[in-house]
Amino acid sequence: TLGEAAPLPDPVSLPLTRPAGCPFDPPAELARLREQRPLSRLHYADGHVGWLATSHSAVRAIAADTRFSSRYELMHYPLLEGGPGGALPPAPVGDLTGIDPPEHTRYRRLLAGKFTVRRMRALTARVEQITAEHLDAMERQGPTVDLVAAYAHPVPALMICELLGVAEADREAFQRHAAAVSDADATVADQLAAFEALGDFVRELVSAKRARPTDDLLSDLTTTDLSDAELAGIGSFLLAAGLDTTAHMLGLGTFALLQHPAQAAALRADPSLADQAVEELMRYLSIAHTGARAALEDVEVDGQLIKAGETVTLAVGAANRDPARFPDPDTLDLHRKATGQLAFGHGIHQCLGQQLARVEMRIAFPALFRRFPTLRLAVPPEEVPLRLQMGLYGVHRLPVTWDEA
Ligand code: HEM
Repeated sequence: TLGEAAPLPDPVSLPLTRPAGCPFDPPAELARLREQRPLSRLHYADGHVGWLATSHSAVRAIAADTRFSSRYELMHYPLLEGGPGGALPPAPVGDLTGIDPPEHTRYRRLLAGKFTVRRMRALTARVEQITAEHLDAMERQGPTVDLVAAYAHPVPALMICELLGVAEADREAFQRHAAAVSDADATVADQLAAFEALGDFVRELVSAKRARPTDDLLSDLTTTDLSDAELAGIGSFLLAAGLDTTAHMLGLGTFALLQHPAQAAALRADPSLADQAVEELMRYLSIAHTGARAALEDVEVDGQLIKAGETVTLAVGAANRDPARFPDPDTLDLHRKATGQLAFGHGIHQCLGQQLARVEMRIAFPALFRRFPTLRLAVPPEEVPLRLQMGLYGVHRLPVTWDEA
């Protein structure tokens, strides 16, 4: 009847099951919810009932609205499909994504001033060198390798070394710890030990840069009023924010291109497609598939009242497949202009390292497919181990092979 809002359907738990045989698509349940309404009620693990935003416009609006907080300690954790979720501790020092203005503004300004055009340009030359070296090594090691261990992880790891000014002699140790932290096969104890070792590593790095600054972002930051603890926190956060993200984009992105050979061929034939291809792969894969915010006051979004204190989970993967924003959204089309994709976030927390991440991907994908024109999976696609239950989607390993020249 006129003027009466339809009652909201019952709350759901956060869908995680991806369609069988299509590891790149978000859970089908998310599309079903989005078709019904931009915001659905969502169960949280502690009994809270909050929201799940699935449309592009709702996710974008909430991420852009500072009446929503990013503080982890104000948020409830979603009840995951098939079981409870965990609780979130407050953000550690240096973690920008878990704090609000004005604390956030101070860190953000200090850091943004160091991600300069000059520095990004210098890093571009290093990405070219580092990718070429790793492709050479793959060629020597091959013709069957795990692409994650040989390429997708080490390239961004070494770029973080560049950013933080890790000396050549210390890079092997750094990479070993970093790989152990994200190794799915390692025991929890081993992962924790590697995590501790990385923390010590970054703290020592901060002292070294204070004593003898070099030409890198961390050394630059020692000239600001940041304390040693803050610098170490920021160093660790940059490592956490910039390494596995880029590594999983390179790993899952290569898997997607191998499953879409015509797209891979287009990229190989026309390197000028790289910029667009990267935006489209970011949209299509949305590896950071969910975000979260907590309402600081009552806010209306798309006609729906979100009350102060309620948590909203942002289904970024669903938003990036919203047909209202991207026609034919479930098709990977490297020729599409995927501008407006939300996989780097949106609003004041939008990814600070996105230029670096783009540079890495724009170079690494075409270089790989040009070096190995016959690159293919070395196992059936259903045997590629996926990071299904993780906050960051991707592949644990990607066995690939090629014809030797
Ligand atoms: C923030 C994704 C690479 C540094 C973010 C956010 C997303 C994201 C979604 C926003 C989080 C939120 O709103 O809560 C990615 C992806 C990457 C990538 C998918 C790779 C493909 C990098 C790199 C760096 C980096 C290479 C730096 C070395 C940061 C920082 C923030 C951030 C510092 C926090 C910004 C803030 O809260 O103000 N990233 N990122 N990221 N990212 Fe990235």
